[in-house]
Amino acid sequence: MSLYAIGDLHLHFDSEVKATVQLTDPLWKDHENRFLRICMQQIRDEDTLVLAGDHSWGRNLTACGPDLQYIMSLPGKKVLLRGNHDMFWDAKKTNSLNERFQGRLFFLQNNFWPYGDIALVGTKGYTFEGPFYLNRSGRIIGWDEKEKVHAEQLVEREAERLRLSFEAARAEGYRRFIMFLHYPPTSILETDSIFTQMAEQYGAEQVIYAHSHGKARFHDSIQGDYHGIRYRLVSGDYLKWQPVCIDRA
Ligand SMILES: [Fe+2]
Ligand SMILES: [Fe+2]
Repeated sequence: MSLYAIGDLHLHFDSEVKATVQLTDPLWKDHENRFLRICMQQIRDEDTLVLAGDHSWGRNLTACGPDLQYIMSLPGKKVLLRGNHDMFWDAKKTNSLNERFQGRLFFLQNNFWPYGDIALVGTKGYTFEGPFYLNRSGRIIGWDEKEKVHAEQLVEREAERLRLSFEAARAEGYRRFIMFLHYPPTSILETDSIFTQMAEQYGAEQVIYAHSHGKARFHDSIQGDYHGIRYRLVSGDYLKWQPVCIDRA
């Protein structure tokens, strides 16, 4: 039994792509088929595959239908996180999505997924992404304060959802945790955040996140061992569509 993760498939079987890079960068060409082939070779039915958000460009559940169908056709148990582009997933309707897709997909928010004796916990998360003001040498000399205050409110709400996820697992007796976020755990201004603090407080063994696309963004947040926790970026283009093995039982 193994645990794999990858994020940001940005599927579009029945909807319009809204990122130029996805239409122009060869890495994204035919990525659905490439990813499917890799999964079929690598992942077995008893394994768990966490998809860390930004599943589809579709604006609603109907437009996302073929994308979710594709995800359901992948091997393993599929656990989904909410990404910022997942318009089909209203934060208040997680329970109804879980009822609708029961036994086929699991939507991770305010709840947890049991993987052996480890609880998979998580939420979308949030990080402040600017706008930043730079000087001539590219150093940050300021930022949009209004946006930063707004970001702080979103971070607070997501932190509460993450706490609910940890507490749901704790109430069921889980003491080992792997934590998932869609957004990176820290912004480029931070070395820690409420998310890293919560990972440490609950004793998460790993923190897995996605959302960062393109070489320039791959090192926006923590990677590797930090305060005894392993941090990994798993956005699909970073992994070149090869899901990363997070744990092998
Ligand atoms: Fe994305
Ligand atoms: Fe994203």
